Amino acid sequence: MLQPILDECWEPLRQAATAALDCAYAPYSNFRVGAAARLADGSIVSGCNVENASYGLSLCAECTMVGAARMNGGGLITEFYCVDAQGGILMPCGRCRQLLYEFSTADTRLMTTSGVKSMAEVLPDAFGPQDLTRIELERP
Ligand code: THU
Repeated sequence: MLQPILDECWEPLRQAATAALDCAYAPYSNFRVGAAARLADGSIVSGCNVENASYGLSLCAECTMVGAARMNGGGLITEFYCVDAQGGILMPCGRCRQLLYEFSTADTRLMTTSGVKSMAEVLPDAFGPQDLTRIELERP
């Protein structure tokens, strides 16, 4: 009973993330990544990693996905799914957890290698917009 509901939620994201792999540009690491998210309005956005000859400038799949989200009207992320070239679930790197956090809520869910998790579980005590507000309020 629960499985069809789970599939309805996650399967479109898994498919979008897997499709995004085809756009990946990863000649240096040879490690293609696809990411997808559902936004609050129900739309799905995706992204792929785009590497660079100046290795450190490479963009993670989450990076281009967040850009795509903004270019398609923006909105908060309700669910997120990331895959490697074999279609296996991939954990977002630390920097990308921070990127995702910016557009997440307490209800945002991520598919992880250890099941569905909240943003707070994958990035506890996150620094975010709320901290900037606090600093501003505390300024004399
Ligand atoms: N990569 C991502 O796209 N997302 C992650 O969360 C982890 C790493 C990419 C960056 C690089 O192009 C390749 O994977 C190998 O690190």
